[in-house]
Amino acid sequence: MGWLRALEGRFIVFDGPDGSGKSTQLARFVAACASAGVEVCEVREPGGTAIGERVRAILLDRHHEGMSLRCEMLLYMASRAQLVEERIRPALAAGRLVLADRFVSSTLAYQGTAGGLSLEDIHAVAGIATGGTMPDLTVVFDVDPQTIIQRTRGEDSRVVRGRGSVAGMKDLFSDRMEDKSADAEFRAKVRRGYLDQAAAQPDRYAVVDATKPPEEVWEQVVKTVRARLAPGA
Ligand code: TMP
Repeated sequence: MGWLRALEGRFIVFDGPDGSGKSTQLARFVAACASAGVEVCEVREPGGTAIGERVRAILLDRHHEGMSLRCEMLLYMASRAQLVEERIRPALAAGRLVLADRFVSSTLAYQGTAGGLSLEDIHAVAGIATGGTMPDLTVVFDVDPQTIIQRTRGEDSRVVRGRGSVAGMKDLFSDRMEDKSADAEFRAKVRRGYLDQAAAQPDRYAVVDATKPPEEVWEQVVKTVRARLAPGA
């Protein structure tokens, strides 16, 4: 995996619906980079900074059912603004590889395509929040809603604390966003949101089939990132 060195100074986002397996694949990618001696700045959204984690708690708190969609969008962007300034931009400037679990693509899918806010408005606010620091590549983990339901049922049966059900049961451990994702129509729109983005910007996005077993998804991730960002390495 020596080619990973070619990723230094690049910004890659792993994104997709809840339950797509993106975070597991991201952890594996970080581990592969560490083995190859590539310095990585790993971040997650919302959160990733002390301020951002406070914003995350507000966003995911199930007591905040009355939060307006615009407030929600701006809070995700506020967390992002802090993350870019405090962690992402300095890391890129130092030549590190930045790997992010979610970014603007999540807001476009969840608050835009699924929520109903205009994509133009979200792009405009994103420009202010990020100051133009945008990913070189966004890897979308595409998975059909049925597979997500099956995976989440598996989690439910093991009573995994902190994860909620997208199968329709509002259990004790789910958060406010997972409650939203329990709606089948919302889930389908989120998925379409990601696929639309990828279709509109094929040079900046890549889609992997995340319904496949984790090992196969991993092979797709490695192949895709290498082909896009380290073709000659
Ligand atoms: P996570 O489960 O990947 O940590 O993400 C938290 C939730 O926030 C998840 O349901 C997706 C949602 N989300 C948005 O709706 N908009 C955003 O901009 C981001 C970053 C996340």
